[in-house]
Amino acid sequence: MKKVVYPGSFDPITNGHLDVIERAAKIFDEVVVAVIRNPEKQAQFPLADRLEMLKQSTGRMKNVYIDSFDGLLVDFVEQQKAGGVVRGLRAVSDFDYEFQMAITNRRMAPDVETIFLMTDYHFSYLSSSLVKQIAKLGGDITSLVPAPVAKYLTSKGVK
Ligand code: PNS
Repeated sequence: MKKVVYPGSFDPITNGHLDVIERAAKIFDEVVVAVIRNPEKQAQFPLADRLEMLKQSTGRMKNVYIDSFDGLLVDFVEQQKAGGVVRGLRAVSDFDYEFQMAITNRRMAPDVETIFLMTDYHFSYLSSSLVKQIAKLGGDITSLVPAPVAKYLTSKGVK
């Protein structure tokens, strides 16, 4: 498999997401990081800002592309002519939701594989929601997110 899609809300991208992107970029020829345009849960940051943070955080990885999608993930994967979807697993608690999504996607598109990559254990506790909460309460998030995200959160007065 040459091309994969790594979808998510990325609201904002964390070092855990970056870890998955780096791992995927070593395995596959092309990784399309795809930000969902209208997530079920309202995103805190505008799509354009989330895309920009991703671009700045992944700029040095030459086989990583940033895009956005609406509608069904499997339709986007097929449009991209990608072979599969990459998702990160932090802990066992992620598994139920991820398994449900993978099986649902497989029912709709049997040829679209889901590939799970384990994040480094340093990131097993990390989520975008936690980052936002810590930043809002004045905590230091510099070790939790890529530098462009820390800068963005500071500029928005989130920290
Ligand atoms: O970062 P997230 O919020 O865990 O990402 C979830 C995402 C965007 C991957 C998921 O909600 C998704 O694929 N949405 C697109 C709609 C879709 O295809 N739904 C059916 C699969 S369950």
